[in-house]
Amino acid sequence: MHLENQTVLITGGTGSFGKQFVEIVLRECRPRKVIVFSRDELKQFEMQQNPKYQDDRLRFFLGDVRDVDRLQRAFAGVDVVIHAAALKQVPAAEYNPFEAVKTNINGAQNVINAAIDQGVRRVVALSTDKAANPVNLYGATKLCSDKLFIAGNAYTGGGTTRFSVVRYGNVLGSRGSVLPLFLQQRQTGVITLTDPRMTRFWITLEQAVRFVLRALETMQGGELYVPKIPSMSMGEMAAAIAPDCEHRIVGIRPGEKMHEVMIPEDEAHRTLDCHGYYVIQPAFPWWSHDTAAAHRGTPVPENFRYASDTNPQKMSRDELLRLAHAMFPEAGLLPDGPIDEATVRVRADAEVPTTRAA
Ligand SMILES: NC(=O)c1ccc[n+]([C@@H]2O[C@H](COP(=O)([O-])OP(=O)(O)OC[C@H]3O[C@@H](n4cnc5c(N)ncnc54)[C@H](OP(=O)(O)O)[C@@H]3O)[C@@H](O)[C@H]2O)c1
Repeated sequence: MHLENQTVLITGGTGSFGKQFVEIVLRECRPRKVIVFSRDELKQFEMQQNPKYQDDRLRFFLGDVRDVDRLQRAFAGVDVVIHAAALKQVPAAEYNPFEAVKTNINGAQNVINAAIDQGVRRVVALSTDKAANPVNLYGATKLCSDKLFIAGNAYTGGGTTRFSVVRYGNVLGSRGSVLPLFLQQRQTGVITLTDPRMTRFWITLEQAVRFVLRALETMQGGELYVPKIPSMSMGEMAAAIAPDCEHRIVGIRPGEKMHEVMIPEDEAHRTLDCHGYYVIQPAFPWWSHDTAAAHRGTPVPENFRYASDTNPQKMSRDELLRLAHAMFPEAGLLPDGPIDEATVRVRADAEVPTTRAA
């Protein structure tokens, strides 16, 4: 679906993904209107002050996804919804489980109901690798959310609303993530890493936004999209970023996995390899072979598992250094050279480190 002349609403539009999404959509997709929906007026105010977002097609709605009446009002006249609002800190979700359930699960249900009632045509909800075989509450709430969105396609009662989910891994350089942490710590000569064997999938914010835009174009409703992205171990990342530092091992933390799984083996029989991405097909009778054919994918082998340790696509040291240098040029990881367009874009992904995020 092209976004030209469409009204697009993004819940969580002031977050990392949301800001990058709004910037790219305003710059490249000619929407009629883009609505940012989130709770905190300060984050919205700061976004409004940023020259990147000085655009009269942009609107800001204060609201909470826990409040279905507010969502009903906000979704009136909206064509496309991207659902990015979530509580996503693993420890915060463990200690405040009812809050995580209210935002990530009840909020998802509210978005689905409001989208159907207001005749929104397409909804893409963001998910995480932590939702596959979850071991923490954050992942478990996102798994519930994924299932609600996929099943939401059966609730439309002949209406035109379609729901799909996009699942991806860690965002490289995002607030509180390991890359800015290593860069900060390396000035002290000691960096802390959980376990050098630990592996993760890595994606940049721009890649995540472009993948969601691609999903919007190809979705039939019911797909769980997984991009093919590279993985890297913590040991390799530490060696690339801070080769001369002491690497102090602090051990795996509660709620963390040694390796992340994006597609568990149990879902292989429903998974299509669609070249640049995978689609986990829904296990519902309304999903037909004809619908699946639109993706021109091929079924993956029975014992297939898409996990960060066995992923054949590895992030090389050079690729990591290039991306990290583009995001944090002041760290001096590479000698300064001419800046190409890709580097300029990736710099927009970089965020100041705060606390450690999911
Ligand atoms: N970052 C990652 O590494 C990563 C990886 C995979 C998947 N994801 C998924 O991607 C999505 C976006 O993540 P992100 O990194 O952009 O998160 P983020 O930077 O923490 O932003 C979260 C956004 O949601 C809003 N929000 C939170 N609770 C809300 C509520 N109850 N009602 C309305 N808005 C609410 C926040 O604004 P207010 O606080 O002002 O409401 C903010 O705009 C999430 O669904 C996350 O699970 C993230």
